[in-house]
Amino acid sequence: MTLLEVRNLTKVYESGFIRKRRIIAVNNISFDIKEGEVVSLVGESGSGKTTTAKMILRLLPPTSGIIKFQGKDIWRDIKSKNELKAYWKEVHAVFQDPYASYNPFYTVDRVLNQALNLLGIAPGSNEGKKLVREALSYVGLIPEDVLGKYPHQLSGGQRQRLMIARCWLLKPKLILADEPVSMIDASMRGAIIKLFMNLRDDYKTSTIFITHDMGLAYYVSDRIMVMYKGKIVDIGSPDEVIKSPKHEYTKQLLDSVPTLYKKWQW
Ligand SMILES: Nc1ncnc2c1ncn2[C@@H]1O[C@H](COP(=O)(O)OP(=O)(O)OP(=O)(O)O)[C@@H](O)[C@H]1O
Ligand SMILES: [Mg+2]
Repeated sequence: MTLLEVRNLTKVYESGFIRKRRIIAVNNISFDIKEGEVVSLVGESGSGKTTTAKMILRLLPPTSGIIKFQGKDIWRDIKSKNELKAYWKEVHAVFQDPYASYNPFYTVDRVLNQALNLLGIAPGSNEGKKLVREALSYVGLIPEDVLGKYPHQLSGGQRQRLMIARCWLLKPKLILADEPVSMIDASMRGAIIKLFMNLRDDYKTSTIFITHDMGLAYYVSDRIMVMYKGKIVDIGSPDEVIKSPKHEYTKQLLDSVPTLYKKWQW
C-alpha cells in the first residue's frame, strides 16, 4: 500500500537583498513510499535532502508540486491545528542533532510523557508508567539509568535511543530520520539503525533514512534514492542501484565505499 506520494516537488529558495539569488534546492522530484518500507535518501551535502524532508514534514512550503499522505494532500487538505497535530503524530522526525530535538529543561520522563499526552494516556497512570518502561526497554535503555535525567546528562547514543523510544510510543506510520546516527560513533550506529528496522518489522513503520553514507544505505534499505543537485538521479533496490547505477554521481558514490560488498555484522 502506498503511504506517501511525492509528485513534481520543487523548492526554490530566494536569498540576498540587493541581488536576488535563486537556489533550486529541490528540482521536480517524484517518488512513492510504501507501507513498511525503509527508503534511504543518499546524496552529497547541499543536494536537497533536508529540504525534501522539511516539505514532507510540513515545516517548509513547496514552491510547486504535491505531497500526499494516505491520499491526502498535506499542503492543501490539512487546515486546522488539530489536523496538523494529528499529521505530526503519524509522520515523525528524528533529526541529525539530538541536542536540538529536546528542550534542555525537559527531563527524560517529561519527553516521554508528552508522547503519552498525545496518545491521550495519563502519564501518572499505571498504563502510562508501564508504557514508558516498555518504550525504554525496547530501545535498550535501563529506566533507572535515564529517568529523571536532563538531555545533557545523557550520552549521544542514549539521546538517539530516547528519540526512538518516543517513536515506539507514538507508533508513527512514517519516520523521517535525517542523519540520525551522524553524531554517534561507528560502534553504536548498528544498534540504533537496527531499531529503525525493528520498528519496520514489528509495526510496519516506514522510514525515510537520510544519509551521506552509501554503505549504510545499502544494508538498511528496501530501496535507495540518490539525490544530486536537487534531482533524484537513481532509484531502485540496493542491488539495482549498486549493480547498475544510472548516473555518474552514483558511480562516484559507489567508488568511495570500498567495504560495500562485505556484509556488516551488527
Ligand atoms: N533557508 C535557506 N535559504 C536559502 N538557501 C537554502 C536554505 N536552506 C537550504 N538552502 C540551500 O538549499 C540547498 C539544499 O540544502 P539542504 O539543506 O536541503 O541540503 P542537504 O542535502 O540536506 O545537505 P546536508 O547533507 O549538508 O545536510 C543548498 O544549496 C542550501 O545552501
Ligand atoms: Mg541536511
